[in-house]
Amino acid sequence: MTSEDKTAIQNIAVMTSGGDSPGMNAAIRAVVRTALYFGKKAFGIYHGYEGMIDGEISPMQSHDVSDIINRGGTILKTARSKRFLEAAYRKQAYEQLKAHHIDALVIIGGNGSFRGADVFSHEFDIPVVGIPGTIDNDLDGTDYTLGYDTALNNVIDAVDKIRDTASAFDRLFFVEVMGRDAGFIALRSGIATGADAILVPEVHTNYEQLKEYLHTTYRHTKSSAIVLVAEGDDGGGAVAMAKRIREDFPDFNPRVTILGHIQRGGAPTAFDRILGSEMGVAAVKALLQGQSGVMMGKQCREIVPVAFSIADKHTKRLSQALLSMIDVLNG
Ligand code: F6P
Repeated sequence: MTSEDKTAIQNIAVMTSGGDSPGMNAAIRAVVRTALYFGKKAFGIYHGYEGMIDGEISPMQSHDVSDIINRGGTILKTARSKRFLEAAYRKQAYEQLKAHHIDALVIIGGNGSFRGADVFSHEFDIPVVGIPGTIDNDLDGTDYTLGYDTALNNVIDAVDKIRDTASAFDRLFFVEVMGRDAGFIALRSGIATGADAILVPEVHTNYEQLKEYLHTTYRHTKSSAIVLVAEGDDGGGAVAMAKRIREDFPDFNPRVTILGHIQRGGAPTAFDRILGSEMGVAAVKALLQGQSGVMMGKQCREIVPVAFSIADKHTKRLSQALLSMIDVLNG
């Protein structure tokens, strides 16, 4: 036992759950290699909680995580599990872990995954540590979640291309990005692409104001315009917004692009590779220090433990400074 290792943990399993996000593979690699570094055995659980319930658990060696740091998605597959919401299936999952002699778990996922992890860590005697993996960046207690930076760069790449057509045709585009409950992707990618307006779930969408802006600015001083819309915006999304604008200004003839899952794929950025690596190492160290029920959060430059209950509080706010910049920059 090293000074890092204050427990009797021998077998550490890692899994991914919920929406895949670029950087998850970097985190899996780091968890496996850190466990092996400390003389532990590493295991992978496939298909998230579904695989935990069904016993899809395999040992992982160092070479199993070779050549994955550069890949999006997750080599462990993922799922959104309804069964894990039921106590009987959680017990079955626990029994599967016991049957495979798993003493500790690392769960990489978003708020739904951590709600499950929180309940499980209180019900059973297996310590659980989380790594925030979601492109939405909507977890409290961490400045960044894995995959958010890559998703932002994917959106920027796509919107830059759309701008070529917007500019060539003097067109108005509504571009919808992911974020059912959160506008982090829309806000930052909107600033980075010079969007004319950014519609996010956190701020009530004032249609009249948007209409007035497009009427005065797009019609009179600009030749093209891009409105970035988060999918969870209360205006109803990009299609609904474009429809209303088309009705009010038939000559605008706006186009709509829904970026969808293209945002979630592709090689992780340097930022997400490093973040996944840092969090993977920290997660195993946290387990060996005896921690449980916590997510590895990135706060300023440090990786810190954050209780699952705090991670899921939904109090993380969009930056007021960035929000207030939109009207200044879109003149
Ligand atoms: O939580 C990540 C996310 O990509 C959200 O932005 C989006 O609303 C949702 O997942 C889409 O989920 P699915 O891939 O299951 O359709």
